[in-house]
Amino acid sequence: MERPCRGLSSLKAQPQTVQILTSNFKRELTLRFPFGILRPLLAADIHPGYVAGLNDPEVNRFLVNVRKVRQTATSVIEFVEQNLLAPDAILFGIWFQGDTLHCGTVRLHNLGLQKDRAQIGICVFDRRRWGKGMGTSALRTVSEWACGALGVSAIEAGVYAENMASQKIFVAAGYEWRKDVADTYELDGRPTTVRFYRFPGSGRPSSGVPPQSG
Ligand SMILES: CC(C)(COP(=O)(O)OP(=O)(O)OC[C@H]1O[C@@H](n2cnc3c(N)ncnc32)[C@H](O)[C@@H]1OP(=O)(O)O)[C@@H](O)C(=O)NCCC(=O)NCCS
Repeated sequence: MERPCRGLSSLKAQPQTVQILTSNFKRELTLRFPFGILRPLLAADIHPGYVAGLNDPEVNRFLVNVRKVRQTATSVIEFVEQNLLAPDAILFGIWFQGDTLHCGTVRLHNLGLQKDRAQIGICVFDRRRWGKGMGTSALRTVSEWACGALGVSAIEAGVYAENMASQKIFVAAGYEWRKDVADTYELDGRPTTVRFYRFPGSGRPSSGVPPQSG
């Protein structure tokens, strides 16, 4: 059973959600969090480290769509511009305090397609920033903002069972483990399990912890 978040302005129907997520709205949006800021990416933010990070095998190991093709400045600009225009997605860049270049992204997508739900993904492409708690904090900040400001009632994410760091940050950010799906997905040509998590919104402690989650 879904429990709605306590929102500033709950958007109950898809058309309202779609209306608010204009590129002008996104251009003016900035979220502060303990490690720096998060704001929707613009084409002008793209830098060689972003493209190189997406092509780094240690970064893209679990980002199947990213590593399908070699990323270039052109493909990354196209992705950023598509997300800026999309009425159902926001691609946040993560800026570590004091840095001029962003080091990662958090993407909300499928906003409002199914009731007032959304999906989320995260990538810290600059490995120098791993292991500092930043991924957890960025995920929590965007998730709480989506529930509060957009009135999203549940945010869902799928994580490969092999991706231990990602499983840790979803649980630490307040996500609940919902289910494991085996034999539907492949990783490196072999069947694998995908673990699904859900952010239940504010006012409710996280209780779902996956079995053997490390
Ligand atoms: C997943 C990711 C966003 C985490 O970002 P981060 O800023 O390093 O996250 P945090 O520092 O908040 O937390 C990482 C946690 O994972 C742990 N961790 C890292 N690598 C691990 C591993 N191989 N096995 C087990 N735990 C691991 C860290 O110790 C830390 O846990 P702790 O706080 O209990 O010590 C980052 O590793 C990343 O972008 N990876 C590549 C893209 C990706 O896989 N995205 C997720 C797709 S679902």
